[in-house]
Amino acid sequence: LPRHELNNLKIGVHGGLDYSEIQALGLAGDRILDFSVCCNPFPPASRVRQSLRRLKINAYPDSQSSELRSKISQKLGLSPDRILVGSGTTELIRMIALAYFNKGDCILIPGPVYGEYEAAARLAGAEVVVCRWPGWESGSVQITGLLDLVREQRPRAVFLCNPNNPTGHYLGWAEIETLMACLQDGLLVLDEAYLNFVERPWSSLPLIDNGSLIIIRSMTKDYGLAGLRLGYALAREDIIRVLRQVCLPWNVNVAAQQAGLAVLESDEYLRRSLRKIWQSKQFLVAELARIGWSPLPSQTHFFLVKVPNARSLRQALLRQGFLVRDCKSFGCPDYIRLSPRSLKDCRQLIDVLTRMKQKGELDEGS
Ligand SMILES: Cc1ncc(COP(=O)(O)O)c(C=O)c1O
Repeated sequence: LPRHELNNLKIGVHGGLDYSEIQALGLAGDRILDFSVCCNPFPPASRVRQSLRRLKINAYPDSQSSELRSKISQKLGLSPDRILVGSGTTELIRMIALAYFNKGDCILIPGPVYGEYEAAARLAGAEVVVCRWPGWESGSVQITGLLDLVREQRPRAVFLCNPNNPTGHYLGWAEIETLMACLQDGLLVLDEAYLNFVERPWSSLPLIDNGSLIIIRSMTKDYGLAGLRLGYALAREDIIRVLRQVCLPWNVNVAAQQAGLAVLESDEYLRRSLRKIWQSKQFLVAELARIGWSPLPSQTHFFLVKVPNARSLRQALLRQGFLVRDCKSFGCPDYIRLSPRSLKDCRQLIDVLTRMKQKGELDEGS
């Protein structure tokens, strides 16, 4: 029999195409405009495509991703001993749980948030306390309620997503520093998967020396490498050493390591992509308001919109070639999450929604 932690463990729901669903509906996956996944919607940097032409795939990859770590280290001004590269941040989340969580440990997860923290903690046999950010629907999230819970529950770890998926709220330095002080020797896992999409980001790196902090960052979102899987963890040397003990050998394949090196030289690609993404976000927010919906304020590129029937809207749009994220799995069944694409794609989505509105298909109960 499998371990009892697997009983009732929910399989993660994510944005992006569900290939079996697409096939069952008789749709062509490459024709669907995907607004459900929060990645850079533009083709990867040309340097990435070039780097993938000279891969040596008949040798195992460097288990330590040494060259990539060294490049990240130069970029961030942080010692390579404080960096661990993973096959996406999701792998790093699993490693953290495997390395640090004991059976019965209390793990605090403020939500609505990315579902993989809970899955990793439950797999490790930990007790998960999921709380809700007060004020998440009004866009004015307060940390005080979370601090009270930390004092009351004394969790072994807190997972905090900043900026938060799916709400897009973004906490500042003082709030994170206060939370760390409140946690004392508890671990803070600070997920900055979407940091590059924030218009005015601040650097959490100096906080690494303040206590037990692991920062995780994804390279699959901003640089459009979702198919390759790439991310990294930043923490004190002793924490990185522990994570290495549970890390699989050869965890990052050769293609991902090469692409990682190439994107770190592609600052202009990132700047250009972000400019277009923010322009598209502005357009979408304004046009959705014209349709009669009010997107929640978000400090990153994606945002939530309350709609009359999220699930059936998702289905209706999918049949017309548009994919949006129905937020039921986040515990927000009344919302969809949209991530901007090119202006041309956004116009197409708005045109379809406008036509649906004219036909009364966006009304309550339709
Ligand atoms: C908040 C958050 N963290 C991490 C991830 C995983 O990203 P990666 O592709 O790096 O595993 C996601 C993916 O959706 C996410 O939303």
